[in-house]
Parts: sequence; C-alpha cells; structure tokens
Amino acid sequence: LKIFSGTANRPLAQEIASYLGVDLGKVLIKRFADGEIYVQLQESVRGCDVFLVQPTCSPVNENLMELFVMIDACRRASARSITVVIPYFGYARADRKAQGREAITAKLSANLLTEAGSDRVIVCDIHSTQALGYFDIPVDHIHGQPVILDYLASKTISKDLVVVSPDVGGVVRARAFAKKLSDAPLAIVDKRRQGHNMSEVMHLIGDVKGKVAIMVDDMIDTAGTITSAAALLKQEGAEAVYACSTHAVFRFGSWFIVTSMIHVIVLIHWLVAKEPRYGMIRQIGFIPP
Ligand code: R5P
Repeated sequence: LKIFSGTANRPLAQEIASYLGVDLGKVLIKRFADGEIYVQLQESVRGCDVFLVQPTCSPVNENLMELFVMIDACRRASARSITVVIPYFGYARADRKAQGREAITAKLSANLLTEAGSDRVIVCDIHSTQALGYFDIPVDHIHGQPVILDYLASKTISKDLVVVSPDVGGVVRARAFAKKLSDAPLAIVDKRRQGHNMSEVMHLIGDVKGKVAIMVDDMIDTAGTITSAAALLKQEGAEAVYACSTHAVFRFGSWFIVTSMIHVIVLIHWLVAKEPRYGMIRQIGFIPP
C-alpha cells in the first residue's frame, strides 16, 4: 500500500499516513513556467495498491488537473490499483441539466477520473448522491455526520430541536440527520423565484417557533444559503440557530458573514481545506450572533 499526496491538502494526507503507520510516498510535483503540471513518482509503485489524496477544492481546476497527472503517472508506473481519495469533490454541484445548454460537470469529472486510470474513488459528503452513479468504478461515500452528532451531543442542548434543510435539495440529508437526533422534527426552507427579475421569496415548511434549529448542509461557500435561511428561521421564532456543514469552502469573506449572523458549528474542515488556518479548525463552538 502506498499513499501519495497532491498539493491540495498535504497535512490531511500526512495525517492519514500517520494513522495507518506508513510514510507518505515521495513524489515530485512542479509547475513549468507556463503553468503546466509535472509529476514524477520518486519511488516504485509497481504492483502496489496506490492511494492518491487530493481534495478538488479551490483552486479546483489546478487540483483536479494535478490529480489527473498523478493518476497517469501511477498507471504508467504499473501500480496494481489506484484509489483516489477526494474528500471534497469539486464540480459536483452541476449534477444535472437544470436549464438548457448547460454542462453536467459532475459527470464529466467522473468520466475523466475513470479515463485517467482510477480504479476506485473515496469521497466525503458529495453534493448529491446521484453523482455517485456517474462513476462506472466503485465509489465509497463517507459521511461527516457522526462528527457533527458527537459535537451536538457534547453540547447537551436541552431545548426542543428541529433539524432544518436550508434548501429543498438537502431534504434527504437533513432527514437522515434528524433520524439520528432521536427522530427530531424536520423543517425545510423553500426558496422560490416568482419570475424573471423578481427577488427570491423564502417560505418555511415546518415549525421552528421556540426551538433550537440545527441546519445541515453539505458545504458553505459564499454563505448566502445558510445566512438567508438563518434569518428566516429567526424571523419565524427559532430560539437559536446552528449551522452544520461538512465542507468549509468559505469563499473569501463569507466566514465573516456567517459568524455575524448565526451560531456556527463547522466540522471536519481538515478533510477539505487547503489552507492551514482552516485545516487547524476542528470545531468552532458558540459564536455570538
Ligand atoms: C446547494 O445546493 C448546496 O447544498 C449549498 O447549500 C450551497 O452550495 C452553499 O453555497 P453558498 O454558501 O454559496 O450559498
């Protein structure tokens, strides 16, 4: 077994290798002056089961391309099997044609990963589970929910809980979460645009009055989804609002928006983040709204 890391999240790969009691494989990754990626394995992988750790987080194009080049290097060096470990699977949001003449980048990425030579994929809380079916190779889908549930258990929240999906697309995820929280009730934020050039109208399906609302989402990017949903929950009488998310994408600045709006719990960022400051964060507890 050999584990190699791309440049997206080397501390994570290092942590995985240490956990397994093996050294990270040696690989040279560099850029040519024009930006092209060069990869050379610095040790033999002939006949080995190779694991490549590379979240395709920002900069997504760089990280994805680097992964393709690493897979190709392993394949040409006669690895027995190549498993790609992609905790945050970028390009997964376009998982269908929501409008005409769009691309389905989740499917395209799956095709390219397979074509490059991957034998197996491990992802964590992919945006939509239907994208798992885009691969014709085995996929292991792991979840961050146990970490979040442990955190909530440690907080011993005494109030009534309600689990909230911040959009209709996240209902299955939220329902599964609610089931694990002693079958807590579910509420759903339904966002609708009533016509072109008309602003979005938000409705709440369910009751949050006087309750502690636990919102669950796969990722926080600009934080637009979670903050507008939090405002609606407050308006509908929620006593406190928590936001739980597996992938802390946090496009520049969004962290500040989130912290100013709601109580935030953000977990397992080390699975995702590239930057050490996120990588170090394991949990952020109560932050005053
Ligand atoms: C949407 O379908 C996703 O589950 C997330 O809610 C969304 O991608 C979060 O993005 P943002 O933080 O930019 O609203």
